[in-house]
Amino acid sequence: MSDALSLFTERHASYARFIQLVLYPQGIRAFFQHCRLLSAGQKVLDAGCGTGVVTLALRQAMLRRGLSPGPIQAFDLTPAMIQRFRQTLAAQNIGGVEIVEANVLKLDGLPEGWTNYDLIVSASMLEYVARDQLPDALRGLRERLAPEGRFILFITRRNWFTHLLIGRWWRSNLYTGEELREAFKGAGFSQFQFRRFPLAASYLTLWGHVIEAAK
Ligand SMILES: C[S@@+](CC[C@H](N)C(=O)[O-])C[C@H]1O[C@@H](n2cnc3c(N)ncnc32)[C@H](O)[C@@H]1O
Repeated sequence: MSDALSLFTERHASYARFIQLVLYPQGIRAFFQHCRLLSAGQKVLDAGCGTGVVTLALRQAMLRRGLSPGPIQAFDLTPAMIQRFRQTLAAQNIGGVEIVEANVLKLDGLPEGWTNYDLIVSASMLEYVARDQLPDALRGLRERLAPEGRFILFITRRNWFTHLLIGRWWRSNLYTGEELREAFKGAGFSQFQFRRFPLAASYLTLWGHVIEAAK
């Protein structure tokens, strides 16, 4: 069993409590409320969806703007995280979200037709890929974008705070902006830009980078 799989199998309940404590879902929701890349009917992939924070935030932001969501597809390595996500979808009576078990480093394991995305989002997952495999993982996601598709990545930055709270406690890799620039270039993205969290989510700046990229 991989390290990430065993970590999130054992600690899926603590992860759900931890993110509430640090107001992570609220911050991600605030980000998507301000995000310019949402449009009606777009085909979306949530890579490393976990318990569904990003999918739920994105969907809520679309509905609030009167945009009807298109197909949302999501994958994750850990069945226990997927199960929590499915329970939330059922409890909130949300349809139109498909979830499968898959590894970002083996995307040929995704169902047929899981490609040509208008938007791919990924949060707090690529930290769990070995550092030297980050460009490969990014390249695999890039290849699944539609020609005009966009990719939004949230990933943990390297600083004293994240070193203790995320690096040690959640056994995650941490990244500097420069390391991410190199990885995005290595993955072949034509453009990528670092974005800020909106004011309502500015506390997440201490935690993470947000990068928007075009194929
Ligand atoms: C910190 S959680 C983040 C979950 C969710 N995206 C969020 O923002 O709350 C990390 C997730 O990445 C998943 N993961 C780790 N390595 C992965 C891989 N190689 N492929 C797919 N998912 C992976 C874990 O199973 C876990 O659910």
